[in-house]
Parts: sequence; C-alpha cells; structure tokens
Amino acid sequence: MGCCKVSAQELVDIAHRLVGSGKGLLAMDESNGTCDKRFVAAGIPQTEETRRAWRELIVTTPGLGENISGAILYDETIRQRKKDGTPFVTVLADAGIIIGIKVDTGAKSLAGHPGEKVTEGLDGLRARLQEYFQMGARFAKWRAVISPQDGHPSRGCIDANAHALARYAALCQEAGLVPIVEPEVLMGGNHTIERCGEVTEETLRSVFSHLVAQRVMLEGMVLKPNMLLPGLTCPKQEDVDAVATATVKCLLRVVPAAVPGIAFLSGGQSGELASARLNAMNLMAKSTMQRLPWSLTFSFARAIQQPALEIWRGQDRNISVAQDALAHRARCDMAALHGEYTAAMERL
Ligand code: 13P
Repeated sequence: MGCCKVSAQELVDIAHRLVGSGKGLLAMDESNGTCDKRFVAAGIPQTEETRRAWRELIVTTPGLGENISGAILYDETIRQRKKDGTPFVTVLADAGIIIGIKVDTGAKSLAGHPGEKVTEGLDGLRARLQEYFQMGARFAKWRAVISPQDGHPSRGCIDANAHALARYAALCQEAGLVPIVEPEVLMGGNHTIERCGEVTEETLRSVFSHLVAQRVMLEGMVLKPNMLLPGLTCPKQEDVDAVATATVKCLLRVVPAAVPGIAFLSGGQSGELASARLNAMNLMAKSTMQRLPWSLTFSFARAIQQPALEIWRGQDRNISVAQDALAHRARCDMAALHGEYTAAMERL
C-alpha cells in the first residue's frame, strides 16, 4: 500500500469498530435521484432543502449512536448542515458514529452486454478520496448490481464489476479509508433462492479473486452482500430459517476468514423481515457449534429508513414520531446481531 496517513493497523481498527462493536451501519447515501424517487412515492417535494431536512431528521435521532457504528453519506449530504449551521459530520461524530461516503457514480449500461450494468467512478477517485478523508470520512462504499434474471449475469458483467470493486477498494486503503465492498444480486424478478445462491456464490468468488489480485488487505475491509432470497415475484417464498441457513452456507464457502465482518444490505425487504432473517443467522451461530469467522451485521437503508420516511412526509410536526420509528428499527436490528430480536419487539 502506498498509504501515508493511516497505517494498516488503523484500517483494521476502523473495520473492527464498524462491524465488530455489536452495532451496525446506517446507509443514508442515496444519490439525489434515488432519494427523490423515494420522496415521490411518499408525496414529499424533491428539493435540496427537503433532502437536507430528511437527513437532519436522521442524524439528530436521539440515541442513534447506541445502535449505529457508522453512517454512509452521499456527496451532497457530507457537505450539508443542520438548520442551525452545525455540519452533519459534526453531529454524527459527536454521537460516536464513524463517517462513511458513497464514492461510486452509479451503475451504467455495460457495453456489449444488453440489460447488464457496470458501476462507474474510478476516474479521479484518488483525489476524491483524499478530499473525503479530509472532510472526516473513514470508510467508503461502492455498489455493483448484478441481475440474476433473463439468463444474466454474464461472465463479462461479473468480472467487470468485480474488477472495479477491487480497484476501488485498493484506492480506499491507500487513502486511509476502509472500503465497503458491495456486490448486490438484485431481488427483482421471479428467480428461486437456489438461483440467487448460484449467482451470489459466483459473484463473490470473482470479487475475492480480484480483491486479492489488487492486493487489498482483507482484514481492513467490510463485505456488504445481499442475503440469499427468492426473487420478489417467485411463487416459492422461503421461511426465515431457510434464508438464514442458505445465506450462511454460501458465505462460509466463499468469504475468507480474514474479512472482519459482513454487513448485509436490505435490498427491498421489509424492516421486520430483514431483522428476523439477520437474527436467525446470528441465532444459528450462537446455538449451534458453527462458529462463524466474521461478524454478521447490517448496513440497511430502506429497512431502517422507510417507516420513518412514511411517517415524516416532509412535515415538521411528524419529526419526533418519525425519529422514534427510525430508532426502533435500529434497535431491532441491533438486537438481531445478538440473536435477541423477537416479533414481540415490534409491538412495544
Ligand atoms: P438497502 O438496504 O435499501 O438495500 O440499501 C443498502 C445500500 O446501501 C444500497 O447500496
């Protein structure tokens, strides 16, 4: 590593604080386009000010740091402030939350591969990472999307995305940021859980092969995968234990023990299901003799934010109830890390 500011040991320590502290990550790094899409669905005007107000609601949620170790921001958000002028990064740091930043520039059509995407953002990334580090970021995120539908993914799509993830991860470590490596096999479609498993396994094998080739220090990164799930319109849905068993089995096959933690994305699952499935995995690890080499935690966006967004609807008078809903999901997810989540928590 050509790293100057941050030692390898410091990267390892940050990764452990993110995923080994018994807490999880809050993804609040929707691009402006994605955030606006969620606002349209909730009837909220799509302006820079409403996005700022929504993010202020999130970062000022009382007690957030009790359940959240790190928050992933977007370029617009890392520069934003509370109405009283306090930068969001200061609010988060005061709550003991480590600052993360999404650094990819989105999934674009992959030439020669109709219907498939490759995530862009490597050009100029070294300079952008330096700027984010100076702004207080200590970890980063890059998301690749892989569809298991319509005969996809192709080898070319998997390898192009894995290569970009590995180049990004190496640049992050050079700049003193812990990379979150996120290859997401999408939930949309009617594929079975078995198909999701095949594609996830093949994708993760390629990702780790490229990470090793690019000399990424596995101890100083976090993997952010999908859970193994049937497609949303698959006629055969699976129970919580089947999802947990299939997911852990797949990860044990392909994720090296040197990786300190795995932080799942929610991918369109409801908050309750995401908590229940994560809980089942951690319960399995606790109750069988199957010791897992890495921690299993969360890095959810929708599964934490969605109920709060639907309560807020852009109205100041709803802020406090929306914050309660956000804190509730974060508490449920943290309980799931310890195998202590129950459906009864939802009725409290
Ligand atoms: P979801 O939890 O809504 O899938 O978002 C996670 C994320 O960070 C996607 O990049």
